[in-house]
Amino acid sequence: MPVDEDLGERFWNGTKDRRDKDDGSLDWDSRPETYKEYPGMERLQLPPPGPMAMPLGEAMARRQSVRTYSSEMLTKQEISDLVYCVSGINRRERGRELRNVPSAGALYPIETYICVNRAEAMAPSIYHYHVRSHSLDLVTPGPAGAKLASAALDQRMLEECSVAFIWTAVFGRQTWKYGQRAYRYASLDAGHMGQNLALACAALGLGCCHVAAFYDDEVNALLSVDGVEESAIYLSAVGRMR
Ligand SMILES: Cc1cc2nc3c(=O)[nH]c(=O)nc-3n(C[C@H](O)[C@H](O)[C@H](O)COP(=O)(O)O)c2cc1C
Repeated sequence: MPVDEDLGERFWNGTKDRRDKDDGSLDWDSRPETYKEYPGMERLQLPPPGPMAMPLGEAMARRQSVRTYSSEMLTKQEISDLVYCVSGINRRERGRELRNVPSAGALYPIETYICVNRAEAMAPSIYHYHVRSHSLDLVTPGPAGAKLASAALDQRMLEECSVAFIWTAVFGRQTWKYGQRAYRYASLDAGHMGQNLALACAALGLGCCHVAAFYDDEVNALLSVDGVEESAIYLSAVGRMR
């Protein structure tokens, strides 16, 4: 497929907020759902997230991309802590559930999946984080790390790590309010989640490395998402440093 050399520039210009832009009014009846559900799938309840003792300054100082991992498993508690830091609900205000990460309009377009390669009491498979119940739903049974690594331009760390995070964006949650500019916001939202993961890993003595180089539709296929309404946006490998 030929590369459209000006696409980025046109996207950026075409999604600038301008004083003369007609914002219209919101159709509250068509507001998309905030939560993705996998009814009928096997559900694994996670333990409540635990406290993180490391001072924030130390976690920031320790954060660095780690690309080689030991073959040790991640514990269920560590997985609980990590998914909670990137997507968990930390408060309720006026009937709304708000999270550990900011999100434009509190619309939370980013879904968190984890590809488990090696974790305590969890079969290697892809799971979806069910935010409200702090649990994981089995989405794609069977080991998927090798396919994920292959889809990420053969970055083997995604197979060698204990758990790989896969974030998708459900764009409609924010285009409903922000139109095409929402595509910028989804990337920004994902970045916040990535940084929370990186700092949480540092605080737990784990390593992680974010990955944005991947064949989008190969990753989408692993999750059975269509790449239009919902599409992979960011990945991260997590494990114990070797
Ligand atoms: C948006 C983004 C995409 C990245 N994609 C990759 C990637 O595909 N593969 C990789 O090995 N590192 C990737 N990285 C990690 C960077 O290479 C790394 O953050 C940078 O070299 C600075 O090193 P440090 O994180 O250890 O401070 C990515 C980082 C970001 C923020």
